[in-house]
Order: sequence, then C-alpha cells, then structure tokens
Amino acid sequence: MNKRIIVIGGTGIIGSAVVNALEPKYEVISASRNSSIRVDLDDMDTVDKLFTKVGKVDAVVCTAQSGKLTPLNSAQWDDDFTFGMKKLTGQVELFRRAINNLNDHGSITLTSGTFKEPLPGSSVGHIVNYGLEGFVRAAALELPRGIRANVVSPGWVKETLKILGMDDAKGTAANVVAQSYVEAIEGNMQGRVLI
Ligand SMILES: NC(=O)c1ccc[n+]([C@@H]2O[C@H](COP(=O)([O-])OP(=O)(O)OC[C@H]3O[C@@H](n4cnc5c(N)ncnc54)[C@H](OP(=O)(O)O)[C@@H]3O)[C@@H](O)[C@H]2O)c1
Repeated sequence: MNKRIIVIGGTGIIGSAVVNALEPKYEVISASRNSSIRVDLDDMDTVDKLFTKVGKVDAVVCTAQSGKLTPLNSAQWDDDFTFGMKKLTGQVELFRRAINNLNDHGSITLTSGTFKEPLPGSSVGHIVNYGLEGFVRAAALELPRGIRANVVSPGWVKETLKILGMDDAKGTAANVVAQSYVEAIEGNMQGRVLI
C-alpha cells in the first residue's frame, strides 16, 4: 500500500476495472457524481473540495465523462457540442488542480478515445479526444517535481459494445484496458498516449 490513488469515474465500465486492478496493491479512492465520495467534473468547486478532503495523493486517474455521436446537421448539435466539450474542459481543469495535490513523482492519467477510422457523427469526439491527447503531450513538459502525465485512448471496450447491442468481437475487455492505466501509474512514461 505505498500509493494513494484517486480514480474519478471509478464506478464506470472502464473506471471500475481500473479500481479492481489497483485495489489489491494500493489505497484507491473512487469518486464520481453518485458515489459516496462525490465529485462532478462540470463543477470545479467539487474537485477542490475533493482534494481538500482527501489530501495529497500519488496518482490521479480520470475515466469520467463521455460524448455523444452527433451528425453535423443534427438539431441537437449545439447541446451535444456543449456536452462533449465538458469532457475536454473538465479533464484539463482537473489536471491543473491535480498538480498541487500530487506528491513528488506522482502521476496524472486522463482518458481520451480516438479511433483509427472516424465514424460519421464523431467530429465532436475528435475535437475532444485529439484535444486531450495534444494537451497532455504538451502539458507534460511543464510538470514540476517529477510528476508525469499520460492519456489512455481505450478504443472500443467489449462490455460497452455488448450494452450497445453491437458486435463485441473487435472490442477490448475492460480489465485489459485497465492495464494501460496501471502501466501509466507504475511505469516511467511521460506525455504518452497509451492505446
Ligand atoms: N467504453 C468505451 O468503449 C470507450 C471507448 C473509448 C473511450 N471511452 C472513454 O472512456 C471514458 C469512460 O468510459 P466508460 O465507458 O467507462 O463510461 P461509463 O461506464 O459511462 O462511466 C462513466 C463514469 O464517469 C462518471 N461520471 C460521468 N460524468 C461525470 C462527471 N461530470 N463528474 C464526475 N464523474 C462523472 C460516472 O459516474 P456518475 O454517473 O456517478 O458520475 C461513471 O463512474 C469516457 O471518457 C469515454 O468517452 C470509452
């Protein structure tokens, strides 16, 4: 138990697999909007309160939030764009706050979700996810005290494809995806996109 780790979104499909992978070895604090340890990435006051309550940690992982597929001509475009951008702004603001709440040589791991082949309706997702990957690559250069930052791009997760009623053969099981987060925490990579 030599690391304390916050997982924001720890009740989700990917987040719960990350929590399960980390819990045998580390002290894991799982937080989300509906968890007993509450945080809402749409409201940075709740992030500040979370860090005040929990104190210094060795790693901050974010597997929270998501986006919607939205065609360019959709009547819902404005709402879907605003909703999707929250995944970008929420994780960027979390990242900035996490720096002061990490011990020396700690790490931040965010979640993007780019796909090799774009799907129709995924343009907002591409802004968000490539934006997050570019942000982490560049922001990692500025981190003090040996802190590292990386971003995991999970690709389709088997469990999600099943829930969506899609062929899950090309998906990766959540517990396999979770290993990328473990590597980001335990390894020495910096500014990398883990696919
Ligand atoms: N699953 C996939 O196939 C896949 C593929 C590529 C990328 N991704 C990305 O991976 C991430 C996780 O996906 P997932 O499938 O695990 O999602 P999920 O099952 O829907 O879980 C989302 C998690 O985030 C929490 N959450 C949502 N909004 C939040 C907010 N504003 N503040 C704090 N917590 C919030 C949820 O809990 P509460 O409702 O309690 O807040 C839940 O714990 C997302 O960014 C998604 O875009 C997923």
